[in-house]
Amino acid sequence: MKLFDVYPIYNIEPVRAQGSYVWDNEATKYLDLYGGHAVISIGHAHPHYVEKLTEQLNKIGFYSNSVRISMQEELAEKLGALSGYQDYALFLCNSGAEANENALKLASFHNGRKKVIAFSKAFHGRTAGAVAVTDNKSIVAPINSTDHVQFLPFNDVAALEQAMNEEVCAVIVEGIQGVGGVNVSSEDFLQKARQLCDKYGAVLILDSVQCGYGRSGKFFSHQYAGIHPDLITTAKGMGNGFPIGGVLIHPKFKASYGLLGTTFGGNHLACAAGIAVLDVIKEENLVENAAKVGDYIMNQLKTISNIKEVRGRGLMIGIEFEGSADPIRKELLFDHHIFTGASGKNTIRLLPSLALQRKDADHFLENLEKIITKNYIMK
Ligand SMILES: Cc1ncc(COP(=O)(O)O)c(C=O)c1O
Repeated sequence: MKLFDVYPIYNIEPVRAQGSYVWDNEATKYLDLYGGHAVISIGHAHPHYVEKLTEQLNKIGFYSNSVRISMQEELAEKLGALSGYQDYALFLCNSGAEANENALKLASFHNGRKKVIAFSKAFHGRTAGAVAVTDNKSIVAPINSTDHVQFLPFNDVAALEQAMNEEVCAVIVEGIQGVGGVNVSSEDFLQKARQLCDKYGAVLILDSVQCGYGRSGKFFSHQYAGIHPDLITTAKGMGNGFPIGGVLIHPKFKASYGLLGTTFGGNHLACAAGIAVLDVIKEENLVENAAKVGDYIMNQLKTISNIKEVRGRGLMIGIEFEGSADPIRKELLFDHHIFTGASGKNTIRLLPSLALQRKDADHFLENLEKIITKNYIMK
C-alpha cells in the first residue's frame, strides 16, 4: 500500500528534536520557527513532558469515558486557572476541527438555530461543520456545502451589524487568523461581535486553535479585547504534539448525558500531555516570554527594508512581501536550516515554541535580512 498523496512535502526527515531545534537523519540541525503548524508550544522533547508521558504510559495509557479519569479534572482546573476561565466547563476531544465541530453543535443545541456567520479567509478545520464555516471552496466537498453559513468581510463591524438578527445561531471567528494570513481580529470588531451576540441570543465562538494557549502573549488572543466568548476552542499547542483538543464552555450551557461524546477524547495519555504542557507554561512563564520575544521580533522586522507588512501578536507573526515568499522560505530552510511556515503566497508565518530565546530570534533576523538584501540587490 502507498500513502494517499495529499501533502506537498520537503524532502527532509527530522529524527530528533530538543527545545527549538530539530535534527534530520543526516544530523543537520535546524532552528524550528514553525513548530509543526503551531503545535510545539513548550519546546520539543521537554524533559518534564517526556517524564510525565513516559510515567503515564507505564501506568495506564487509555480507558474510555465510561470511568472516572481524575486527570481530566486536574487538566480542567489548571486550564481554568491559567487562562482565567475558572467558571467555564471543559469538553475534551482530539483535534481543532473536532473542537469547532462540537462548539457549533453546542451552539445549535443551545438556541435551536442553524445559521452561522463566519468570515473571509477563515480556517476552522476539515470536518463537516468546521469546513462549512471555512472560507476555501476548494476543500468543501459537495456533501459539506450548506446554505446555513454566511461569510462576511473580516473585521467589518458595519457588515456584521447588518447581518445579525434572531435567526443567527452562532458567530465563529479566529482571534488571529492563521491560515488566512496572520490577520488580527480588531478589538472593536470582537467587542461588537460580543454585543450583537448578546442582543440577538447568538453564541460567540472564538476559535483559538492556532492563536490560543499563550501564543499571542496572552493566554487567549481575544483577551486583548477584554471580551468573554461563549465557547472557546483549542487544540494544537495544548498537547505539544500529543493530539488533544478542547472546548471551554460558558456556564449557561446545560450538559446532559450523551449530548456530546468521543472515544479517545480526554484519555490518560492526552491528559498527561495536556497537564505537563500547562505546568511548563506556568513554571517557565512562557506566555510572558511569547509576548517579550514576539514584540522584539516584530519591532526588529519593522526596521528591515523591503518587507511590505508585519502582522501578529506574540509568537504568531506574519511577514508579508510584495512578491512570493516562497524563494525566501526555501533559502532559509535549505541554506540556513531554519523552518518557517507560509500563509498564502506572499506571507511567511512564524509559529515557534513559546520558549523561543532571543539569540535564536536574532539568528533568524540576521539571515532573513541577508537574504532580502541579497535578492534586492540582485534584482
Ligand atoms: C484556526 C484553526 N482552527 C482549526 C484548525 C483545525 O485543527 P486540526 O487540524 O487539529 O483539526 C486549524 C488548523 O490549522 C486552525 O488553524
